[in-house]
Amino acid sequence: MKVIIKENYDELSKETAKIIKEAILTKPNLVLGLATGSTPIGMYQELIQMYEKGTLDFSKITTFNLDEYFDISTDHPQSYHYYMRKNLFDETNINPKNIYIPDGTAKNVKAFCRDYERAIQETGGIDLQILGIGSDGHIGFNEPGTSLNSRTHLTKLAESTIEDNSRFFEKKEDVPKSAITMGVQTIFEAKKIILLASGEKKAEAIAKTLEGPITPQITASVLQQHPNVIFILDKKAASKLKKYG
Ligand code: PGA
Repeated sequence: MKVIIKENYDELSKETAKIIKEAILTKPNLVLGLATGSTPIGMYQELIQMYEKGTLDFSKITTFNLDEYFDISTDHPQSYHYYMRKNLFDETNINPKNIYIPDGTAKNVKAFCRDYERAIQETGGIDLQILGIGSDGHIGFNEPGTSLNSRTHLTKLAESTIEDNSRFFEKKEDVPKSAITMGVQTIFEAKKIILLASGEKKAEAIAKTLEGPITPQITASVLQQHPNVIFILDKKAASKLKKYG
C-alpha cells in the first residue's frame, strides 16, 4: 500500500493525472477504470489539458465506469453517463466504441451485469482503476455490508449516500434509491488501483480504510490486501491517520 499525502485538492488532481498519463504513455491501449463524483473532477480537467496540449492521446484506451444510478436515463443531468460526457469524453478523443458505463435503464439487470463482467474480462482486465470513497467507506456503490466477493450487481444506496449525493439534486427525494455497481471483487481484480480522497468529510472513512480491520462494513478496507494500490489524499482527508499522517 502506498500513501501519498498532498497539500491540497489541486495537487492531488495533478499527481493523479500524471500517473494516468504515464500509464497511457506506457500502454496506449490501457484499460482504465473510471469514477464519478466531485473528487475526480480536477483530475479530469488536468487530463483534458494534456489532451489539448497534444501531450496525451486517448484514442486507443478503453474505459469502464464503476457505477450508474438505477433507474435513470443516460440523458438525465445527474446520470453518470451525462457526467462522463461533460467532464471527460466530449473533451477528448476517447473512442465512443471503447466506453463502458453500467446501463441504468437495463431491463434485464442480471444479464446486463453478467455482460459487463464479461466485457471487462475480454479486454484482459482493468489495468488501472480510479476510485473515490464514500463517507461510509464505500467504493463504487458497494455500501456497508456488501460481500467482499461481490461482482457487478444492482444495489440499494445507503441512507448516508442518498444524503451525501442530495447536494447534486434539487431535493433529497429525487436521489435514486438504487444503482448498478461493479462489485468489490470486480474492483479488487484491477491490476493497479488509485483511491482519491479530499477533505475532512472523508478523514474518518480513510482512517478506517487504512488502519481499521478489513470488513464488509467499510468495503474500501479490502484494498489493504491489494498488491498495487496507491491512496492519494489531501492533508484534510489524511488528518485522522495515525501511522501515515
Ligand atoms: P465524491 O463521492 O467524490 O462526490 O465525494 C465519492 C464516492 O461516493 O465514492
